[in-house]
Amino acid sequence: MRRITIAIDGPAGAGKSTIAKYISQTLGITYLDTGAMYRAVALKAIREGVDTRDREKMALLVKNICIRIDFSEGEQRVFLDNEDVSEKIRSAQVSQGASDVATIPEVRLKMVELQRAIAKGKSVVMDGRDIGTYVLPDSEIKIFLTASLEERTRRRYMEQVSKGMDVSLDEVRKGIEYRDKNDSSRDFAPLAKARDAIEIDTTHMTVEEVARKIMGFIERFQ
Ligand code: DC
Repeated sequence: MRRITIAIDGPAGAGKSTIAKYISQTLGITYLDTGAMYRAVALKAIREGVDTRDREKMALLVKNICIRIDFSEGEQRVFLDNEDVSEKIRSAQVSQGASDVATIPEVRLKMVELQRAIAKGKSVVMDGRDIGTYVLPDSEIKIFLTASLEERTRRRYMEQVSKGMDVSLDEVRKGIEYRDKNDSSRDFAPLAKARDAIEIDTTHMTVEEVARKIMGFIERFQ
């Protein structure tokens, strides 16, 4: 198989990570969940009592941060200053903090540098908000996944309940609305569909249907 990079962007709860994992396993290529990196930055800020919206302090904090991504047996683990934080970054507080730190250009530049280094010379599927528009604008396949707010809320709620988290539908909806607005209105590399991306509304589709559709585009390319 020749080298291929696949960019999957879209708002929270649209199904990006489920689909990206499926593609990575099917093609045997690396999967990078870029949101996990912003989450790790937010976790560090929260632990150190730094306001996740304070540009000056965040720019300093990110200067000396060590974020490492390990891939073993098709699974991504995220290390913050050598501690495995893969589970700790999934809380509602970290989700909101990640959306806040992601508005800060100094944070984004550092994360994008890491993301591009991981993609260098190999086939990858990367999911995020700005992969097709900014991180890997030359990706061969660009997908923009969407779904209605209600459906995205329902999916995120089910996912969190299955992990034993104590959340209400309303809280989950508010968190998603907050992030949608924050992620798409920031100045630097906002959540946006690339001009050459294929948009798929997954509201009424199963994971298998979405995966089959995307695999169809990939097969046509190869
Ligand atoms: O994909 P996620 O929900 O784990 O991402 C958490 C936050 O990180 C999201 O609200 C916005 C930010 N993010 C971003 O700005 N750019 C990316 N490429 C990935 C995530």
